[in-house]
Amino acid sequence: MSTFKPGFLWGAATSSYQIEGAVAEDGRGPSIWDTFAASPGAVDNGDTGAVAADHYHRYRDDVALMAELGLGAYRFSIAWPRIQPDGSGAVEQRGLDFYRKLVDALLEHDIQPWPTLYHWDLPQPLEDTGGWPSRDTAERFADYAAIVHDALSDRVAHWTTLNEPWCSAFLGYATGRHAPGRREPAAAVRAAHHLLLGHGLAAEAMSDSTVGISLNLTDVSPATRGEPDLDAARRIDGMQNRLFLDPVLLGEYPADVRADLAGVTSFDHVRPGDLKTIAAPLDFLGINYYSPMLVAGAAAPTPSAYVGSDRVAQVDGGRPRTSIGWEIDERGLLNLLRRLKRDYPATALYVTENGAAFEPPVHDKARIAYLDGHLRACAAAIAQGVPLKGYFAWSLLDNFEWSYGYAQRFGLLHVDYETQERTLKDSARWYAGVIARKAL
Ligand code: NOJ
Repeated sequence: MSTFKPGFLWGAATSSYQIEGAVAEDGRGPSIWDTFAASPGAVDNGDTGAVAADHYHRYRDDVALMAELGLGAYRFSIAWPRIQPDGSGAVEQRGLDFYRKLVDALLEHDIQPWPTLYHWDLPQPLEDTGGWPSRDTAERFADYAAIVHDALSDRVAHWTTLNEPWCSAFLGYATGRHAPGRREPAAAVRAAHHLLLGHGLAAEAMSDSTVGISLNLTDVSPATRGEPDLDAARRIDGMQNRLFLDPVLLGEYPADVRADLAGVTSFDHVRPGDLKTIAAPLDFLGINYYSPMLVAGAAAPTPSAYVGSDRVAQVDGGRPRTSIGWEIDERGLLNLLRRLKRDYPATALYVTENGAAFEPPVHDKARIAYLDGHLRACAAAIAQGVPLKGYFAWSLLDNFEWSYGYAQRFGLLHVDYETQERTLKDSARWYAGVIARKAL
């Protein structure tokens, strides 16, 4: 049996654009995801977040469902365009009021609020003036963080600055699979830096609170011990993991990654002092883990999100896959947790996302197996001394899965998008049992 200590934090996660809907209500301005989702072909089936799971109107009922599951914490994100519709300047009080009411509802049920300040819905006016490749966006983000922090820090103790800056930078500005849909490799590397700078500036502005960042990290292995495959694994680990971990936790960009990117950018966008800002004291690292990566060197260049490393191919590891096509292997999570302890020892860790897309609307055995396996990996890591303090399942409820639209369902709760009715899946009941027993 795997057991967890009483203080271990049990949560579930969502994000604003994926669940809220109400995109034109209470003064909310447009975000890059409103614009992107409206462009033909950008999202499967032409889906958008305009209504999503209508959480903006149903948050009280959703919080009651969280209480029914016994959640100790709820990770959600704050929509910047609700707080500053223009991305800078004027503050929309009704936006702040919505999150204050949500936080109060959580606290009434003894559920810790864990807001993330940026989960990809950049105010469109900021993209119009350059977006994340522009340094100014980092400064605007810090202003916005300070506004929200001032308004809610009497009720909120744990803050996350960014969710998965790798996706914002490389899916948003290199492959164009995510908003704003640009395909400019050098701009993507600049975006990564300005996201990190925004993180550091925001962390400074919130230094009297507990502050973290959520990174999408993976466990990368070479397909063989041959030199091209080993080099491919080093490159992908560099671009996906170390390009973000090292600046935040060590205050430097990895030299090998800078070398890999030499043909893309000269890093002249990095100013003296930036890395010191980015390495502002961090209270926890959030890990979003879904799937491991097996990689090989490729003879010919293949288009990839890994700019500067396009002679790399992902190899089929022969494991079962979720409905979105991601391989399932909880050993990847265990390896990753052990590696984080080894390479960045003093940092408290939380799994801030882990979960799976599967079809069955309610009887979702496969999701239970996925969560069970990954939670066992967490328990094994803790037994080996990894400072893992909590786990958030992705996701509380079915939602808008970005470029896949509504077809891919990650929820513990099923959402009928016609009626907005929520139904507990078997995995939700199972998770509630695990939380109650603190054991698997
Ligand atoms: C990463 C993202 O943070 C979240 O928004 C997304 O829905 C899940 N992982 C699943 O792809």
